[in-house]
Amino acid sequence: MSASRPIVILGTGYTGRWIHKLAKEQCLPILASSRRPEQHLGDVAQPARIQFDLDDPATWSALPLEADLIWTFPAVPLEPVQSFAKHYCDSSRRLVVLGSTSAYERGDDPEMNLPPWIDETSPANLGLPRVQGEEYLRTQHGAMILRVAGIYGPNRNPVEWIRQGRVGPTNKLVNLIHVEDLAQLCLLTLRTGQAGNVYNISDGHPRRWADICAEVSIKWGVVSPRETSPSQPGKRICNRKALEQLGYTLRHSDLYHALADLQLEAGDRIPR
Ligand SMILES: NC(=O)c1ccc[n+]([C@@H]2O[C@H](COP(=O)([O-])OP(=O)(O)OC[C@H]3O[C@@H](n4cnc5c(N)ncnc54)[C@H](OP(=O)(O)O)[C@@H]3O)[C@@H](O)[C@H]2O)c1
Repeated sequence: MSASRPIVILGTGYTGRWIHKLAKEQCLPILASSRRPEQHLGDVAQPARIQFDLDDPATWSALPLEADLIWTFPAVPLEPVQSFAKHYCDSSRRLVVLGSTSAYERGDDPEMNLPPWIDETSPANLGLPRVQGEEYLRTQHGAMILRVAGIYGPNRNPVEWIRQGRVGPTNKLVNLIHVEDLAQLCLLTLRTGQAGNVYNISDGHPRRWADICAEVSIKWGVVSPRETSPSQPGKRICNRKALEQLGYTLRHSDLYHALADLQLEAGDRIPR
């Protein structure tokens, strides 16, 4: 990617907005897409907005031919994914696609206390439509696939998930990544990643929800209305390849420090 090559964020939602913010701070030429740019991209300068809808081929030609792409919504259904890529993703375009660690088969052995680490060589579930879309883009168009753990950050605060009972004190392992680190890694992958590679994106510290709930209860007095119940074991996602090959040091490697910052920010937003 040359310094002047524009980047288009395909789908400017939660992660896309962070990519946009960081790219602007790094003075990278960045454009943002939405299916409804007038409604959803009011905070993006007009010339940097693009209308793009995977399900509407009439919008595809709005993408500058020379731009690289960061695709932030699930690559489904397969037919429009293939059709779009055949027409608009030639080999000169660099393409980063956000996937999910849910692509990996679950090692659901309730007898196993700690499941094995999952790296990029672990089998993905090719029966999942999303994985089929990603694998098509990876093998046929050189896309770099980021298999992303649970995303948290400002306005997506795990303390609130606990308070609302969306999660409870189970033994299930959870893998998380702060949105700022994810957004940095998206830009870094576009710049230095190897075409056709998969990278796991996680903070590298799988934790049990029960442990997170206990810590959150001690630190902030927040308790889940859910009770302990039997759970799947969860996964342990290894992030070594991404950090080593992309040369990145996580800014938010310690979940509890990150949560403390989120709690402070949330407190600041409450009118006193
Ligand atoms: N949330 C998690 O914990 C988690 C965990 C693992 C992986 N992921 C994956 O990581 C990626 C980023 O997550 P996110 O939460 O930042 O996503 P998000 O907020 O939903 O942003 C994606 C944006 O893409 C646009 N979009 C959706 N469908 C589209 C389509 N068919 N054509 C064109 N644009 C479309 C939407 O914006 P408009 O409505 O403005 O078009 C949407 O806001 C997603 O692929 C998600 O599945 C998320």
